[in-house]
Amino acid sequence: MTGHTKGTDTSASVGAVEVEPFRIDTLLKVKQSGGRFSPAMIEFLVRNIAKGTMEDSQIGAWLMAMYIQGLDPKETMHLTSAMKESGTVLTWDPSWVVGDKHSTGGVGDKTSLPLAPALAACGLKVPMISGRGLGHTGGTLDKLESIPGYRVMLSAEEMNVALQKAGCCIVGQTGSIVPADKRMYAVRDITGTIDSLPLIVASIVSKKAAEGLNTLVLDVKYGRGTFMKTQQEAKDLARALVDTANALNMRTTALITNMDTPIGRTIGNALEVEESIECLRGKGSDDLVELVTVLGGELLASSGLTPDAVKGRDAIAMSLKDGSAMRVFCQMLQLQGVSKDTAEQICLEKKGTSSVLPKASHVLNVRATKAGLVTDLDALALAKVSLALGAGRSKSSDAINHAVGIRLTKVVGEGVGIGDTWAEIHYEKEIPQSLVLKVETAITISKNASYVPTSRITERVH
Ligand code: URA
Repeated sequence: MTGHTKGTDTSASVGAVEVEPFRIDTLLKVKQSGGRFSPAMIEFLVRNIAKGTMEDSQIGAWLMAMYIQGLDPKETMHLTSAMKESGTVLTWDPSWVVGDKHSTGGVGDKTSLPLAPALAACGLKVPMISGRGLGHTGGTLDKLESIPGYRVMLSAEEMNVALQKAGCCIVGQTGSIVPADKRMYAVRDITGTIDSLPLIVASIVSKKAAEGLNTLVLDVKYGRGTFMKTQQEAKDLARALVDTANALNMRTTALITNMDTPIGRTIGNALEVEESIECLRGKGSDDLVELVTVLGGELLASSGLTPDAVKGRDAIAMSLKDGSAMRVFCQMLQLQGVSKDTAEQICLEKKGTSSVLPKASHVLNVRATKAGLVTDLDALALAKVSLALGAGRSKSSDAINHAVGIRLTKVVGEGVGIGDTWAEIHYEKEIPQSLVLKVETAITISKNASYVPTSRITERVH
């Protein structure tokens, strides 16, 4: 990944910095020749991107220059700020404490679904703007759209009502929020400039800043099932994200978390909703509950709602146990278009969640060929199978099948006997043998192994 520069004045072009009006072609040369941008230069370029007066070819040239030459932390901050200001910035009742979480994306990552209502139950206002998945599995919005009636697009007014009444909402991004990012991301996608640290930071943080947040927590993942492969890469990204978000007045911390094995026991949209509901009933998998409570604890502490992150973690755990987070979730569903009947069927245990969620027509049990302890599950291999089943999309126009996916009946640390089912593949119509084989080889079962539970959370950056 390309990155931050150290920030020394290297450019003879710096002398031309304050000359107004700028010309786009002249400014492109500043970065091409290794110079630094002033805030005014960056604002000028971003304004022209948002207005549509900068052509895609010019955007591509600018992105490539930034990709190759890098941006120093100040330039990154100014780019982020200019991108945030390129569209609507949401504002809220000044008496509210407003916070959100951002994750860099993983396999089976359904953390947002229980976390937003748990935070709201603890007093934080959470206007969570999420994305659709591009890659192996669906994003948070795809997961929620498995619930009949769920409406991801709310107006700013409707978000305000949801925050007043339920305390949270989970919505998609409207075209008016950071319009510059929409154009820049589309051009990055086709010019090989996605994996640039400052461009990733500006893209992520500008969208969070436009939500009008006081506090932010970041889950920066590394490992097989995500785009950052090493812990050090994740740490470098987290450092830049935290510094930039803090500079934009959001109190921000980040957790570095391992993504080698899937989170929880499900991969696939409706299956993940079902597991999230279990978590909201206080019965989630240990790793999912840990992520929800620790990320939530960080936010409650940085928001001043609890004296420290440990007390914050306890408060989130209590909201899952005492049903208060579930009550918020049920209310949120109704404020986002789900009928009262369906919401109650999903949220009330006696009514049975699974009866309203889409179901795949076939389930294939995958059985263990030896006995022992599960010591590994390859998140990337399982994610690729989920994509091939239809749970994710390879390009943004692909349709998603909400019902398909994989349920893990055994996870790392659990014992398995020969012939025991350790996974269910939920699929439609037929399943190629190659996919079954891919699942079969995603597990490692070790004889005579011992298991020491380890946390996915390996570091905290603040
Ligand atoms: N997510 C974003 O929103 N932007 C990036 O550039 C990378 C991840």
